[in-house]
Amino acid sequence: MACLSPSQLKKFQEDGFLLLEGFLTEDECVAMQHRIGEIVAEMDVPLHCRTEFSTQEDEQLRNQGSTEYFLSSGDKIRFFFEKGVFDKKGNFLVPPEKSINKIGHVSPHQDATFLYTEPLGRVLGVWIAMEDALLENGCLWFIPGSHTRGVSRRMIRAPAGTSFLGSEPAWDNNLFVPLPVRRGGLVLIHGEVVHKSEQNLSNLSRQAYTFHLMEAAAGTVWSPENWLQPTTELPFPPLYV
Ligand code: FE2
Repeated sequence: MACLSPSQLKKFQEDGFLLLEGFLTEDECVAMQHRIGEIVAEMDVPLHCRTEFSTQEDEQLRNQGSTEYFLSSGDKIRFFFEKGVFDKKGNFLVPPEKSINKIGHVSPHQDATFLYTEPLGRVLGVWIAMEDALLENGCLWFIPGSHTRGVSRRMIRAPAGTSFLGSEPAWDNNLFVPLPVRRGGLVLIHGEVVHKSEQNLSNLSRQAYTFHLMEAAAGTVWSPENWLQPTTELPFPPLYV
């Protein structure tokens, strides 16, 4: 297995993110997209579960916080949609395969807002471009070095679903730098680095595959207040043992 070089590791530690170009081959991306296409084609989402994904607080509380569908998404395949894909009755306004978010845009946030550990610094996001993700079609943007400032807000479980502690600062847009990624590139994302992606208003789709890892080293505590909790049926799967 390939390791990060000392200079790559240094860059990740300084910036809070790192691009590894060509992590997957073209063929591997095609195979993954094919499988994702099969899953989406088979998706059957009950009307009341047609949840639009948002990292914005008010929308999130309204759309996600109260839904069991969202809270139980840790060990199941759950679908979250771009804004504006449903009409008032919950019918699809765009082809379902183009409607899934997590392939779409997100407002500025730190992953630790949602995935909080003690100590901090134990969560790593992995984001792989299944297609080119460039300036015109919604690539990721980062504030380099912002991972050293702690966590501004947390989303926690509450009796009515979820609620927030603290608030997201009004981040200066000029601090963000874009990170265009060619198909097959992988981005490592520190749990506290501030990042976002813009809405993709081009006609080029921008599929990505993303997941998070927690370094379950001795002494790491996954906050019991996190919205996402492992279940007895399926605890968080270990990457290696
Ligand atoms: Fe994120």
